[in-house]
Amino acid sequence: MSITNFPSGNGSASAGIPITKVTVPALAEMKRQGKPISALTAYDYASSRLADEAGIDLLLVGDSLAMVVLGHDNTMAVTVDEMLHHTRAVRRAVRRALVVADMPFGSYHGTVAEGLANAVRFLKEAGAEAVKIEGPRVELVRALTEAEIPVVGHLGLTPQSVHRMGGYRVQARTAEAAHKLKDDALALAEAGAGAVVLEGVPREVAAEITAELPVPTIGIGAGPECDGQILVFHDLLNLTFAPAAKFVRRYADAGSVIREAIEHYREDVEHRVFPSDEESYHLPAAARAGLAAAAAGRTA
Ligand code: KIV
Repeated sequence: MSITNFPSGNGSASAGIPITKVTVPALAEMKRQGKPISALTAYDYASSRLADEAGIDLLLVGDSLAMVVLGHDNTMAVTVDEMLHHTRAVRRAVRRALVVADMPFGSYHGTVAEGLANAVRFLKEAGAEAVKIEGPRVELVRALTEAEIPVVGHLGLTPQSVHRMGGYRVQARTAEAAHKLKDDALALAEAGAGAVVLEGVPREVAAEITAELPVPTIGIGAGPECDGQILVFHDLLNLTFAPAAKFVRRYADAGSVIREAIEHYREDVEHRVFPSDEESYHLPAAARAGLAAAAAGRTA
């Protein structure tokens, strides 16, 4: 058995077919072969298992969980402990995809030593295989790489910078800003980043960076030329309770499906048609007869 293969028969493998685990070097190989990388955010066991079984290559435990799972207005509030909790659930579900954990706001914005210590927790305590950090933090990426912690960079519209950016705005819209973004991406790759997420940048800028970067770009709102694409799980399935951003494609309306199913259940309860007799447990015949005899004795 290859060390990159899980044995089959447990988890999502079809009988007899080993799963080839996606690793950070495998992403680079996919870029080399021109094979698009599919990525999706993940936050819990059931949805991660479905995404893994559907063949998604990279599952990111995104700090977007602050908004789509925990109901905050932005990503700033989520803590390292909350991110660890969700990363563990995803880890338990996933057999094939690369599991990447987002480092939350504040967990790597101080010293490199603090960032390193927090990153270690994601691998040691939650089973992540890489961490993602926002911004051109080249020194930190180098330190993490030297500590054997694979890193995914994240440039462009970086949601943890929402207050500095003055909102969620498309970035790198001038030639100067586009050059700076490209330099930042190249510096992250040179420092050891295994991939770089490009969020909310013009297609042309992302295409040029993708062509020049030795490691894969994963785009979100960055056009089709990126080496891979990532979407937020709740955006893809219409579970956000908000209009979709321009770059989102809704592949299903799970919100409506779930709401209708729950309404149907409530109506069945209210009309006493759930549970049915078939959905109920029954006494064995002998015990039922004994119960009936005892009841008859009481009324005699
Ligand atoms: O937290 C997140 O969801 C992200 C995106 C890249 C999808 O960082």
